[in-house]
Amino acid sequence: LSSFDEKPCVLTTCQDIHQAVAGARSSGKTVGLVPTMGALHAGHLSLVDASIAQCDVTVVTIFINPTQFGPGEDLAEYPRTLEADLASLAERGVHLVFAPANEEILPPGYSTYVEPPEVARPLEGRCRPGHFRGVTTVVLKLFHLIPAHVAYFGHKDYQQSVVIRRMVEDFDLPVRIEVCPTVREPDNLAMSSRNAYLTPPERQQALALYRSLSTAAELVGQGERHAATIRAKMQEVLVDAGITRIDYVALVKPESLKETDQITRPTVALVAAFVGQTRLIDNLRIGQS
Ligand code: PAF
Repeated sequence: LSSFDEKPCVLTTCQDIHQAVAGARSSGKTVGLVPTMGALHAGHLSLVDASIAQCDVTVVTIFINPTQFGPGEDLAEYPRTLEADLASLAERGVHLVFAPANEEILPPGYSTYVEPPEVARPLEGRCRPGHFRGVTTVVLKLFHLIPAHVAYFGHKDYQQSVVIRRMVEDFDLPVRIEVCPTVREPDNLAMSSRNAYLTPPERQQALALYRSLSTAAELVGQGERHAATIRAKMQEVLVDAGITRIDYVALVKPESLKETDQITRPTVALVAAFVGQTRLIDNLRIGQS
């Protein structure tokens, strides 16, 4: 793999990527995988940095998975920035990029899907039916094509990380899942490829998502334990900022993702809401002490 030292080697076929990764493994190298849909930002690059620090070879996949978008969602508008993505991956020292066409992953006649685990049902699963079926199917396929030792996901998509961990455990997949912290802008907006859709006033409005989560953390810090009271305040923060299309404001147990009534243990606070036409999600661990 010494020829990948400067620029990433971009592969587009399943056969080529499998061969390259299997070859790296058989020469004793550890392999890290960072699955993405492109439109890379500092959040993705933190996953890349973690993989580069921990593994001999880092593979980044760029594939806008159509099966995880519902009808009426933003598949057609999703930002496509391949050249810029490759430039930032080159800068980071990524070895291999897998950027397949749709038909390479989902050829005509493709019809096998993963039935996602129970933890995929609430939250995103309820608001975006079929989303996790698409995510798990494509991630399973990537794990199979790219036999990595470690795969990196962001805490920002918290439920996705729980769903994938469950799938890995249930299918005995030989890959370790690392979940890396959410990367935020200086004003605490969570990095997201979808932030590119926001107009300047919406960008300001979007700050209410993190404010809502930190309100939950503050209330718990002040001794409030009643989840319904905290959720109501979280909702109020969003509404006060003019955000009224709220998919959920939730306080859940970190592993089961079941709603909690009393915050007596570590809890994850999550929000999903539309800022203008853009659906944003964010979350924060609270109640640690
Ligand atoms: O988090 C994402 O970008 C996507 O859901 C993933 C994991 C690349 C699967 O398409």
